[in-house]
Amino acid sequence: MSEVRHLVSIDDLSLPEVRALFDHAAHFAQDLRAHSAICRGRIAASLFYEASTRTRLSFESAMLRLGGGILTAADMRTSSASKGESLADTVRVVSGGYADVIVLRHPSEGAARLAAQYSEVPVVNAGDGSHEHPTQTLCDLYNLWVERGRIEGLDVVLAGDLRYSRTIHSFAYALARFGANVVCVPQPGFELPGYVVQRLREEFGVEPQRADASRLGDLASRSDAVYLTPQKPHQLSLFTDARGFSIEHVDAVYMTRPQTERHPGGEGTLENYLQLGKRTLAVESLRDAVVMHPLPRRDEIAADLDADPRSIYFKQAARGVPIRMAILGWLTGALDLATSQRAPELRAYPVTVGANPCPNATCISRTEARHVTPMLRLASRLPLRAHCAYCSHEIPFGVVGCSTTRVFHDRDSVELRKVRSDHLVFLRDAAEALRLGFTPSVRGVAGTA
Ligand code: NCD
Repeated sequence: MSEVRHLVSIDDLSLPEVRALFDHAAHFAQDLRAHSAICRGRIAASLFYEASTRTRLSFESAMLRLGGGILTAADMRTSSASKGESLADTVRVVSGGYADVIVLRHPSEGAARLAAQYSEVPVVNAGDGSHEHPTQTLCDLYNLWVERGRIEGLDVVLAGDLRYSRTIHSFAYALARFGANVVCVPQPGFELPGYVVQRLREEFGVEPQRADASRLGDLASRSDAVYLTPQKPHQLSLFTDARGFSIEHVDAVYMTRPQTERHPGGEGTLENYLQLGKRTLAVESLRDAVVMHPLPRRDEIAADLDADPRSIYFKQAARGVPIRMAILGWLTGALDLATSQRAPELRAYPVTVGANPCPNATCISRTEARHVTPMLRLASRLPLRAHCAYCSHEIPFGVVGCSTTRVFHDRDSVELRKVRSDHLVFLRDAAEALRLGFTPSVRGVAGTA
């Protein structure tokens, strides 16, 4: 049996695979009604533990247009989840003959990664908490590619709630990989999370620069804009002064709503949230910027922009159908991506000693603790850094043990280079290490005099 592919993170796809999906989508978009033999006899199951309009309906429309069938659990409160059934058990059942592909939306970060571990069929992440939304990103990249003819070298403004918008996180990773530049214009207090910036830096070579956003007019008047670029600092030196990199021209503005359902204070409205209106778009730097939004919007894009030819958010939503036809065709084995170049697989290591070190209370490794073995990925060996393999949050640790020798070391100790990656045990501090029966390294560990 061939290996099952999943689409949990945008990083699960290589760039040639993304381009191949665009080609299929562009072909489908010429006539959405002409492809009803491609998935005949296949079934997609939508398991939605969170509200959705576009993502679920465009996936279901895509499967129906490809001639396949759908099983819909649009509101998992009406399923056995309300009787306490775990996600892992649900996925085992649905993938065991009920469906050929599962489209999952869930409020816990890392839910789709867990589902993929238990599923016999491909799992598509249709949004996991504030973590990732890779198919929205494919839709967004496809839109840029159709509108601009390229992605490399574009300057894209990401605005609004950059902290809790999962669409932003997947999009930022993908833009970096494609060699586009990102201008972050966050709602104050809702900047990109540290773990996202760190990944952009360490895995994609992106250097955050201060940005002089005075030419963005009132769009950035209340925000500390940051320029994220895969270019090397010396390439920027001509355009950078004490006020930071100067933003002269923007290709796309991507606006997001406040994700109030995920804010720690709970549902509510955000005072003084950024708003794009006619006046905002009148500035020279945004003259030919397309305006994008994953939708739904609240007031962050004024209705008077809808008729502006630069506003493409409804077209963007419409293009969700052909791109999801390409995704479903590929994952059900009906379409070939005509490239052998795969994204590198990142190895995950189970946490075998001590408590779950993931600090994120809404990570699936905490919300479904009974069914999840905590797993880590090494973000870097030097300096040593790890993140949760489910939600990508950085693992905080003070000392590191070796699971075979049961010796522990300071987090910066050179001794750690000798410990095999799968033997590393990340521990909060020396007291925890001692409690779990580890002994301090003979070279000494701070706090264990
Ligand atoms: C987004 C989502 O669910 O993350 N919507 C979508 O899928 N088109 C954005 C949002 O809810 O703000």
